[in-house]
Amino acid sequence: MATTFKLPDLPFPSNALEPSISRTTMETHHGKHHAAYIKKTNEILAEKPNAPATLEEVVRLAKSEGDKKLFNNAAQAWNHAFFWNSLSPEAQSGPTGGLKAALERAFKSVDGFRDEFAAKGANHFASGWVWLVSDDSGVVKLVDLHDADTPITDASQKPLLVCDVWEHAYYLDYKNDRGAFLKVFLEKLANWRFAEAQYEAARSGGSDAYRFPS
Ligand SMILES: [Fe+2]
Repeated sequence: MATTFKLPDLPFPSNALEPSISRTTMETHHGKHHAAYIKKTNEILAEKPNAPATLEEVVRLAKSEGDKKLFNNAAQAWNHAFFWNSLSPEAQSGPTGGLKAALERAFKSVDGFRDEFAAKGANHFASGWVWLVSDDSGVVKLVDLHDADTPITDASQKPLLVCDVWEHAYYLDYKNDRGAFLKVFLEKLANWRFAEAQYEAARSGGSDAYRFPS
């Protein structure tokens, strides 16, 4: 039987991030954009009887085989699921513990991290993602990747937190002001408890902490 994936539920109600992100944006982003990537991935996998069972493996195989169509859809399916987990409806004061210390080492301060993240997002040309990643030794850095690209195809990078900077992520609420959206993401929405759990997993073995539900 062909491998298929389901659209994961949002980890919070679609209006839970208002007024930072409207229900309309969430319903369109999750229910239309994310759903379409899952549907397309399943359609492509229907023609591939020996596809791997997990979305992580599908993404890595598509990348290594140069299957651009499968990669774009499967990676976007994965990236969006990770993005929902990178958002928190509850106000969080910021990173703590080992992750806070790592951010201070890499960016001098948590504010330094926020400034660099915002600049990377604002300067990213066209569609893509801004990722906070860690290597196995706990050194963190920022990478902005284009279109569907994802750090899970690079064994030396473990994703901790991501912000979607495709226009569909913010256009209904912020029009063309991507900078305003990034500011709200960094000040109000970033799910530091999720990023901290990812960071501890990255340092303690290197396997994926977050896994797409299969
Ligand atoms: Fe998106």
